Amino acid sequence: MRLVEAEHSDDVGRRAAALVFQQLRAKPESVITLATGSTPLPLFRELVAASKSDPGLFRRAYFVTLDEYAGIAHDDRRRLLNWLRREFLEPAGIHDRQLIAFDPLADPAAECPRIEKAIEARGGLDLAVLGLGPNGHLGFNEPGSSFASRTRMVPLAAESIISNAAYWGKEEDVPKHALTLGLGTLKQARLIILMVSGMGKADVLASLLSGPISECMPASLLRLCSTCNVIADRASLSRHLRDKNDK
Ligand code: PGA
Repeated sequence: MRLVEAEHSDDVGRRAAALVFQQLRAKPESVITLATGSTPLPLFRELVAASKSDPGLFRRAYFVTLDEYAGIAHDDRRRLLNWLRREFLEPAGIHDRQLIAFDPLADPAAECPRIEKAIEARGGLDLAVLGLGPNGHLGFNEPGSSFASRTRMVPLAAESIISNAAYWGKEEDVPKHALTLGLGTLKQARLIILMVSGMGKADVLASLLSGPISECMPASLLRLCSTCNVIADRASLSRHLRDKNDK
């Protein structure tokens, strides 16, 4: 795992975008999974801007949804695919035929293997762009997820329900289950980018960087991945840097 120190959240986005461009230059037909949430927004702005000056940039790429709420309507605004459509896919001119996306209403027992097979059929994940959950989750792989886990339906952890309540109005309205690519699926990506920004992530990032490697902290799996770049801004690194100086 390589740590890249960025100035602020926009700089995290710029540095992540540079790696995405490098990946697409090396392999235009890359299979890419993208996190939703607030952290990747600066990255999406960079990617959308680049697609305006180079309309062919994403033409041969495939995009995989990292996770999705289970049981919600296809056209629900809060469906993570619809969020990704608004923030990135539509402004960047990406077609539905380039998507591998969870159907939130399908039977998870069939839907999860379908997603795994669709990724495999296109040669496996080339790039996973991830965010860091306040409890250390990656996608919706909550604490306790096996490092070998595959794509599956999971119950959401209380912390995830609380942190997503803002999008849903209130905690009781947040779905209790989600579909997520597994940790074992993600670790096979040929390149992984973990984006981290803001003071709110300082404790969880310090624990990811120097705490135990354990399934209690799903993101600690990335310490075992030589192909992972953690791009973190100063605010999110503040606790880690302070702990290092205190030693
Ligand atoms: P955030 O979400 O980017 O909105 O902080 C990260 C996550 O929960 O995975």
